[in-house]
Formats: sequence, structure tokens, C-alpha cells
Amino acid sequence: MKRRTLSSLSSGASFRTRRGAFVRSDCLEYLESVPSSTFDLVLTSPPYDGQSKYGNGQSYERAWFEDYFLRVTGEILRTLKPTGSFILNYRSKRRGSERGTLQYELIFWLRSQGFLFCEDFVWAKPSPPPGRFRRFLKDAVEYCFHFAKSPRWQFFPEQALTPARWDSADRARRKNHAQNFERESSPSGHGRKRVQAGPDFVRPSTLLLMEPEFGPNPTRHPARFPVLLPQFFVRIMTKPRQLVFDPFGGTGTTGVAAESLKRRWIVTDLDDKYAAGLAERMITGR
Ligand SMILES: C[S@@+](CC[C@H](N)C(=O)[O-])C[C@H]1O[C@@H](n2cnc3c(N)ncnc32)[C@H](O)[C@@H]1O
Repeated sequence: MKRRTLSSLSSGASFRTRRGAFVRSDCLEYLESVPSSTFDLVLTSPPYDGQSKYGNGQSYERAWFEDYFLRVTGEILRTLKPTGSFILNYRSKRRGSERGTLQYELIFWLRSQGFLFCEDFVWAKPSPPPGRFRRFLKDAVEYCFHFAKSPRWQFFPEQALTPARWDSADRARRKNHAQNFERESSPSGHGRKRVQAGPDFVRPSTLLLMEPEFGPNPTRHPARFPVLLPQFFVRIMTKPRQLVFDPFGGTGTTGVAAESLKRRWIVTDLDDKYAAGLAERMITGR
């Protein structure tokens, strides 16, 4: 498959590095200019429903998702490579005494567009935003839904292994179970068995325990995610030099994550004032 050059995909960028570019654009208009089967990973956090803080008069109500957002996801499906994935970070608000259901409906809508629904990761925030609610608690979770274009979606969990929690008590307990022994393969220990306590590093789980973004917010963006979040998915879904795209890119956090992991990247946002801090963030990786 032909590899797209970054410059052909990012003309007029407001900020660029050797690996990536921030393009000020309506993401649907941008996507319509992109050739099919271009991206290895699309990862985004669209405006929350009812979010009216982006200064463009749009309040991102249900109709916006049903009409505009589904046209964006249709273009994401077209521009993903057959091995590509789409990670959608989203959480429906509460309204009155109910939790919005758009987060669940989106899954069905995208499936009927042709996406495979592969997984629902839960981003859990140990220190959620404060708030007083009459009949609710502080909201400490968001979803990261994983969709793919075909069953051939690429997956590299070995690039995101986490330390295993084996301690001496674990080892002692495991000695009691036959399945935890294996034959010693070295010639000198031939025929003996030794305890297999488990590997030192294991695959991560679908629970992503990460604080919200508490760092300085010079562009006063109302809804950033922490760089650890896109970094996690870039690690498990792509290889170095592959191409990552974030259509609702905000401050460019997905670009910072991709750059830090040596992937190519493109981010679009309607407003490039949010890109103001990107040059420094590319250096610090935060
Ligand atoms: C939830 S924020 C993304 C924040 C980002 N993940 C970060 O860490 O900075 C959603 C962004 O979508 C942008 N946006 C809204 N409508 C858009 C559109 N039609 N095309 C491109 N960007 C849009 C908003 O300006 C906002 O910055």
C-alpha cells in the first residue's frame, strides 16, 4: 500500500515537526480530502454532549452527533487502513436524574456504519473533577471505545507491558498448584521441576487508571485528556513511523503522545489557538 507523505496530508499546517502536523480545519472537510486507507490509528475525544465552550456557537447536542459526527466517523472508516483502529474517548453527561445514553447508542450507530466494536476500555480517574450532586456521586470514569475496520486490526500489547505483582507469598501459594510447575530445560537440571511464578511483566488490562490532566493550561482549553491516555493506545495499536490522526485534536495531546513514541501524526482542530504550547510540549513530551 502506498505510504502517504506527511506534507501531502498537511498543507497549510499551523504547526509541524518532522513527524507530524497540527492543521486548523473542520475535521470533516479535512477528512474528505484524505485518500482512503491512510491512517493506522484514529484516536479522538469529540466535544462532550452539550459542551458549549469552544466559541463557535455549536453546543454539540444529540443532533450534532447523529448528523455531523456520524459523517466524520464514516470518513474515519474510509480513511483507516484495513489493519487500523479507531479509539473513541467519550462520556455522556447526566441530564436531570438520568445518565445520557448517547455513549451506548454511538456503539450501535458505528456498528451499523460498518465498524467492528472490539473493546470498551474504562478510563478511571482517582481524583475526579469536584462537584456537588443531589443524587449522584463524583463522575470518575470515561469510556475509550475501540472500533476497527476489519478483523485484521493490528495489536501490539507487548509494547505496553506492566510490572507483574508477584511477591514471595504468591510464589509460596503457587507451589501448591501443579499447573504452576514446569520442567527444567537445562541439561544439568534434566527432569527436575521448578516453580513458575509468572513473568515479571504482563499485558495491561482494560482498566486505565490515570489522573485527569492537571498540568498548566496556557490556552485555557476546557477538556484536555492526559498524554498518558493516547500514549497507551498508540503503544498497543501502532508501530514506530505509522500514522496517527486525531480529528478533534484540541491542544494536540495526541500529537505529543505520537511524537514521543516516534509515530507520525496529524491533528486537526477548528481553532489553532489551542496549538500555542505545542512546540514546548514536543520537547517535554507532556
Ligand atoms: C474534547 S476536545 C479535545 C481535547 C484534546 N483531546 C486535548 O487533549 O487537548 C474537542 C475539540 O474538538 C474541537 N472541535 C469541535 N468541532 C470541531 C470540528 N468540526 N472540527 C475540528 N475540531 C472540532 C474543539 O475545538 C475542541 O478543541
